Amino acid sequence: MIRHRLLLLGMKETEDFSKADFILFNTCAIRENAENHLYGELGQVKGIALTRKDLFVAVCGCVMQEEKPVRYVLDHFPFVSLVFGTNNIDAFYVLLEESIKAHATYVDVRSQPTALVESQEEDTSGRTSRYTAFVDIAYGCNKFCTYCIVPYTRGKERSRRKEDIVNEVLFLKERGYRQVTLLGQNVDSYGKDFGDKYAFADLLEAVAQTGIERIRFTTPYPSDFNDKVFDVMAKYDNVMPALHLPMQSGSDAILKRMNRRYTRKEYLDIVHSLRKRLPDVYLTTDIIVGFPGETEEDFQETLSLCKEARFDGAFTFIFSSRPGTPASRMKDDTPDSVKHERFDRLKDLIDSLSEEKAKSMVDTVQEVLFETVSRRDQNRISGYDRHGKLVHVTGDPSLIGQIRKVKILESHTYSLVGELLDD
Ligand code: 5AD
Ligand code: SF4
Repeated sequence: MIRHRLLLLGMKETEDFSKADFILFNTCAIRENAENHLYGELGQVKGIALTRKDLFVAVCGCVMQEEKPVRYVLDHFPFVSLVFGTNNIDAFYVLLEESIKAHATYVDVRSQPTALVESQEEDTSGRTSRYTAFVDIAYGCNKFCTYCIVPYTRGKERSRRKEDIVNEVLFLKERGYRQVTLLGQNVDSYGKDFGDKYAFADLLEAVAQTGIERIRFTTPYPSDFNDKVFDVMAKYDNVMPALHLPMQSGSDAILKRMNRRYTRKEYLDIVHSLRKRLPDVYLTTDIIVGFPGETEEDFQETLSLCKEARFDGAFTFIFSSRPGTPASRMKDDTPDSVKHERFDRLKDLIDSLSEEKAKSMVDTVQEVLFETVSRRDQNRISGYDRHGKLVHVTGDPSLIGQIRKVKILESHTYSLVGELLDD
């Protein structure tokens, strides 16, 4: 949305800091290294800012919803002209105007949203792709997992109206978009603020009925799932057979301390029910290792759950203590070296599960939506199959934005290599 508004002002994009007149950092607070990364980047800009008095630097996003990082930016990077958070993006032009008038860094961070940010736009110029788009369905999170900063930076869950979402998808479809990904912290809690338990399944069905070619969604919360969602996934061919279902840990004791509202058994039941209805589904997850107090036994439970659930892939994280969250105050006596060693063991297991799945796809035919051309080789194009698996082929760049059948020839841990088939 901000990108769209900047383009409307006539700005043009560059990835080279030294060429830019306006630099905006959008931040993510989920793990500490993202915050440190921001300070590193601002450090790089500092040199340019000293010689370029007309350079405008702004910082926004989740990290700025916290008091300490804002202080840090003000103290260390006084050349920053504007700081704002996640709750007043809708007022972006006003913020810009005020900061241009101000003589010092202009800070406007709100703890409450000023409006339900609507991302429907009159044109698609702010979107980074002409074929695939993210569509927000809800903002914020009410879950308060004890390790997570999101409920503090993103506020209470607010669902967008179903009609607005469906209209946005239709609008994108008419302009040639082939895939939408419905986005929310907990997509399957969608509509609970309207008091409707089945709202996500109904929304997914309404989006499927727009006829857009591919629909994905992320991220669901395990215990908010109901079978009606699986029914819709199974019924509509344009809802992709892929699910990213964060499990976080396989140990009931840890899940409880994380304030995750399901047990290991309940998680597995959902997976079994999913695989029964959608045998072809591609299942991925998020896992945190080294949560405060995690024992070797707890970790073994995580490993065994991965094997039982037969994940096709996973994002794995080492616990990162976020100030202000309950977990940051929990006793944590596991040495970093042990956490890293567990992380490596988990990664090896996940990689072997991914490789196994990838191998089983060799010789199959997959439909691939091509999205990118290799920087090194103009005839090497890549895209994603229906499961969300990355596929590379030799092909003409004119195929970007098209869906083609591909025979899979080779498998790697994170991608597949195939050849285009004639239509
Ligand atoms: N430390 C490590 N990983 C975290 N995640 C969220 N908060 C933390 C944290 N404090 C992970 C979770 C979540 C994913 C988006 O990031 O696994 O699902
Ligand atoms: Fe964070 Fe997701 Fe838990 Fe919400 S449900 S608190 S976003 S990990």
